[in-house]
Amino acid sequence: MSIGVFDSGIGGLTVLKEIRKVLPNEKIYYFGDTARVPYGEKTKELIIRYSKEIVEFLLEKDVSAIVVACNTATALALKELKEIFKIPIIGVIEAGARTAINTTKNGKIGVIGTKATINSEKYTEEIKLFNAEAEVFQKACPLFVPAVEEGILNGKLVNQIIKTYLDDFNEKIDTLILGCTHYPLLKEAISKIYPNIKIVDPAKETALDLKEILKENKFLKNDAQKNEEVKYYVTDGKEKFKEIGIMFLEENIPTVELIKL
Ligand code: DGL
Repeated sequence: MSIGVFDSGIGGLTVLKEIRKVLPNEKIYYFGDTARVPYGEKTKELIIRYSKEIVEFLLEKDVSAIVVACNTATALALKELKEIFKIPIIGVIEAGARTAINTTKNGKIGVIGTKATINSEKYTEEIKLFNAEAEVFQKACPLFVPAVEEGILNGKLVNQIIKTYLDDFNEKIDTLILGCTHYPLLKEAISKIYPNIKIVDPAKETALDLKEILKENKFLKNDAQKNEEVKYYVTDGKEKFKEIGIMFLEENIPTVELIKL
């Protein structure tokens, strides 16, 4: 049994990192669509088409479950993927919404993500399903992705960007969802500026949900088995993926295969 994990590129490695902590013995295929990243600025039609192509590729690897390790693809394509494909497919948004509801004390939750994720209103929808009374404050933070990819994770420049986006959230919200795979790398910088806001990274809870799904479906491997390696596929820039990937995964990426979809 193996698991497929995909993202628009490199960001999904923050989700993979959490999955590896919970499920170190499962064989994982990670797909990063580096040739077509970013998804955050693309239309729903395109994101659905790209996501379908990736799921079809992963199915050829015989995966028994798939994680959409990308907030944008979860927001825009998860529903459609679940309708088309028969295997369990989970995204990151439900887990993020649930964790935020369990974390907030004042019912005021902030959500940050790409433009496509924020415009989809998917987080608001999911949060309201858990608690219709919750108040959601959303903001797209498009400058975060390039800052992270440049390794600018702390210091004056990134603090200025964080403040520009988030200052009007302060005093309102007590919980903030990092609704984009890149943002966990800015968690420290954000908490330093807003120490009273609790920060939710949906990846942790998603990994636990995945474990439950594998258990329910009897897909889980014997836990006594040794650490399995991950197979990586990208659609462009193998070397850049390896180089920046370490920052996201905090683990070496030995080999990456280039794929044409
Ligand atoms: N992985 C995307 C997300 O979580 C961010 C990068 C992109 O725009 O493709 O929304």
